[in-house]
Amino acid sequence: MNLRQEIDALEREIKRFLDSCDTLEALDQLRINFLGKKGKITLLTKRLGSLAKEERPEAGKAINRLKAWATEALETRKEAIKTALRERQLQKEWVDVTLPGRRFAIGREHPITLVSREITGIFTGMGFEVAEGPEVELDYYNFEALNIPKDHPARDMQDTFYVSDNVVLRTHTSPVQVRTMEKQRPPVRIITLGAVYRCDSDVTHTPMFHQVEGLLVDRNITMGDLKGVLTRFVHLMFGKDIGVRFRPSFFPFTEPSAEVDIQCVICKGKGCRVCGQTGWLEILGCGMVDPAVYGFVGYDPEIYSGFAWGLGVERVAMLKYGINDLRSFFENDIRFLSQF
Ligand code: DAH
Repeated sequence: MNLRQEIDALEREIKRFLDSCDTLEALDQLRINFLGKKGKITLLTKRLGSLAKEERPEAGKAINRLKAWATEALETRKEAIKTALRERQLQKEWVDVTLPGRRFAIGREHPITLVSREITGIFTGMGFEVAEGPEVELDYYNFEALNIPKDHPARDMQDTFYVSDNVVLRTHTSPVQVRTMEKQRPPVRIITLGAVYRCDSDVTHTPMFHQVEGLLVDRNITMGDLKGVLTRFVHLMFGKDIGVRFRPSFFPFTEPSAEVDIQCVICKGKGCRVCGQTGWLEILGCGMVDPAVYGFVGYDPEIYSGFAWGLGVERVAMLKYGINDLRSFFENDIRFLSQF
């Protein structure tokens, strides 16, 4: 084979390799094999010396052409491989930016929490402070100091969860009144909010529910103050136009005592099933603090007077949102809870 033929053979060989070469590593190997220090084209150059003098320029040009061509062909192939690799990577990492984003399920606040906060907001807005007390309570605070004597029917095992002889799960939030007055001299303006427990379970009763209790004691407090504060509360909670009435009642720790009714939010007072055709719904109990209670906390009833009230949070929430089954609050059905 003369040099001319070898050059042609090399060119064909390179072309063949180039076609099957599809990684950068293989391409580099190809470069070393042909253009490297001991590459086939380089070796060819070294043989120029053995040619006849007049043949050398022609052969030299031919080798240089081959070298230039090979260098460029490799470069072109390199770019093509790079492009192909990039394409493949883009394909693999392809993201459909038009797809809707992933939604995170966000929890909602429980309606009892919402209503509790609204009630608290109304009273703190009037200057009441939030007080707290334990849910596992001494008989003394839950009953005794609230003027509920030992033989009172409310102490019946059927209504009260007894932890031991003198410890109960509080049956109402009223013990916080006593605990607060023990610690603090008048003026007292507090509300307290929390779970209470009664041994009772049917469509309209759950063994645990929530109450908000309020207490205001100062000099010269009258039933007029009680009516003013609670009427304002009802109007802020249910709307300015809702009718309110105070009805005489009895609680051992208040004298006189009353219950507050609001005009039925369903029938607006016309009479319906919810209000038992009366047009009114009871929402809270209240009264002027009984002097006997002051006796337990060392307040002088000749100097101080005040009023207290207690309301059921579930009841207010039912009226506010038109919920007709008390149990909905405790079943934690997401379809129910997500509506608020
Ligand atoms: N503690 C009473 C109950 O659970 C509610 C109540 C009535 C609280 C009158 C009061 C009050 O503070 O003055 O039924």
